Amino acid sequence: MCGIVGCILKDNNEEVAPILFDCISKLEYRGYDSIGLATYFNDKIHIKKDKGKILEVDKKLNLADMPGNFGIAHVRWATHGDPSKLNSHPHVDENNTVAVVHNGIIENYLEIKKQLIKEGHVFKSDTDTEVIPHLIQKYMDEGFDLEHSIRKTIEVIHGAYAIAAVSVNEPDKIVATRKDSPLIIGLGNEGYYLASDSPAILKYARDIIYPEKGEIVILDKTGVVVHDEFDNVVNKEIETINWTPEMAEKEGYDHFMIKEINEQAIAVKNTLTQKDNIQQIIDEIGDIKRICFVACGTSYHASLTGKYLLESLAGIPTDVILASEFKYSANTLDEDTLVIFISQSGETADSLKALDVANETSKTLGIVNVAGSSITRRAKYVIQTQAGPEIGVAATKTYVAQLTSIYLFVALLSNNQELLDELNKVPDYIAESLNDVEYIKSISKRYNFARDFFYLGRGYTYPTALEGALKLKEITYIHAEGYAAGELKHGPLALIDKNIPVVVVIPPGDNYRKTMSNLEEVKSRGAIVLAVGSSDDESLKAKANDVIAINSNVGEIIAPLVYVVPLQLISYYITLEKGYDPDKPKNLAKCVTVE
Ligand code: F6R
Repeated sequence: MCGIVGCILKDNNEEVAPILFDCISKLEYRGYDSIGLATYFNDKIHIKKDKGKILEVDKKLNLADMPGNFGIAHVRWATHGDPSKLNSHPHVDENNTVAVVHNGIIENYLEIKKQLIKEGHVFKSDTDTEVIPHLIQKYMDEGFDLEHSIRKTIEVIHGAYAIAAVSVNEPDKIVATRKDSPLIIGLGNEGYYLASDSPAILKYARDIIYPEKGEIVILDKTGVVVHDEFDNVVNKEIETINWTPEMAEKEGYDHFMIKEINEQAIAVKNTLTQKDNIQQIIDEIGDIKRICFVACGTSYHASLTGKYLLESLAGIPTDVILASEFKYSANTLDEDTLVIFISQSGETADSLKALDVANETSKTLGIVNVAGSSITRRAKYVIQTQAGPEIGVAATKTYVAQLTSIYLFVALLSNNQELLDELNKVPDYIAESLNDVEYIKSISKRYNFARDFFYLGRGYTYPTALEGALKLKEITYIHAEGYAAGELKHGPLALIDKNIPVVVVIPPGDNYRKTMSNLEEVKSRGAIVLAVGSSDDESLKAKANDVIAINSNVGEIIAPLVYVVPLQLISYYITLEKGYDPDKPKNLAKCVTVE
């Protein structure tokens, strides 16, 4: 998880540190334990790094003030070794000749470290990464150039990595490589860039090269060269990103999360433009007997909604499997199964592992927000959600965009014109659901006391309840459980009392009466009930303590696309009440590139 960037400017007299600092700041959502920069100037590698959030460290070290016209930078999300100055990247060898930034995990670092210590290398940190500059230095001392020292290094290390290195013995270049961690190369007017993710470099370069596993990329001020494992030059395709730099800015909002919640109507509208592509994919895929979704977290909840839709509206047996648990189901796949991978980042390690396995037997489809990400490159078919860059760690607009793609897929697969017509109304329903912000703010003040919450939903909105609970957990740190409304009486009802608010997602439709009975069950046990329901539902208003009203035309089938919005807002405003940063929940990162 961590983020890396690198930049080499064409003009020798320009300073790179302000650009590196700007680029790496855009990746803070990938890690915010520590930050560090390394530049090369006058035969020396200059390093500034420390633990802490970017602005705190910058205040102390003035990170943009470093000499040199090329360098690398890193934001850390600790995996090996506490957040500390010593464990912050860039890491160097003992002679300060090689500096490295790394995103990923080196699984065999302990044995390598032991061997290097025996050979006289001196280590300063507890990280897995530090073996890399030592290995590179060792091979450079043996006479290999930087590129081949990195080549030899990646023959030794096991795990996932995107690495960028600079060396005083071979200045004026940055050499980078990757395996199972994301890395993009940007070709800009002023220079050449590398980054873990595109928001870092959108302002400087939108023509992008995507290196594949094991390729070595050499950036110097004249351009970028990519070599394959046999040292042949690879002619890489250049793809232009259609995201603009402004899309990755807060644009006047206090946080990315609230900006992204407000962008949901447009995310749905833009994703609906994928209808023809989705129809084409359906035509190409042909007959499918079973569908299997594989995903994690919020994307798992979108997948679960997919199961309800596919089974009830298209009659296709559908399973939903957590990517990290996928291997136990892998031998049930066959060529008649379509395996759908849902991921906003397209880089989730658990999902990628599963995708490689599924590709061996089945048709695979990725539903992904980040163009050019690993899932888009490895899945046999791809639906691109059109949410634009999502920076807040808690997924919001990418979730409704994922749902939109799934709804389109199901509607087209089952020739359901009524559902297609309903989908076109969703952007307006979402926009309308955002009108109630003042009321939700006031509710958030009152519900902020609780240490536990239940979220209940039934049928199509059961996954919505799960997603509401996840949003609350991850940014407010309040314990919350999503439950199928009918399941509560089979155990958890024992927990209900006046200290546990119950959020009931209750749209109009076939499930309404049964869910209302469940609401009454918890109410009669003293729970405070916050309901999200139809604006014309008078009996709900009489029974629940608070009701957030959604347009009464939103029926239960499309409810997941709209009813999630107030749930996101409640979590956002409770987080503000508690004084936490909703964009950077503790211990979490936007892109989970470790298993
Ligand atoms: C929660 C959240 C995570 C992600 C999960 C999968 O708000 O964002 O639960 O949904 O880590 O990530 P992707 O969708 O990138 O595969």
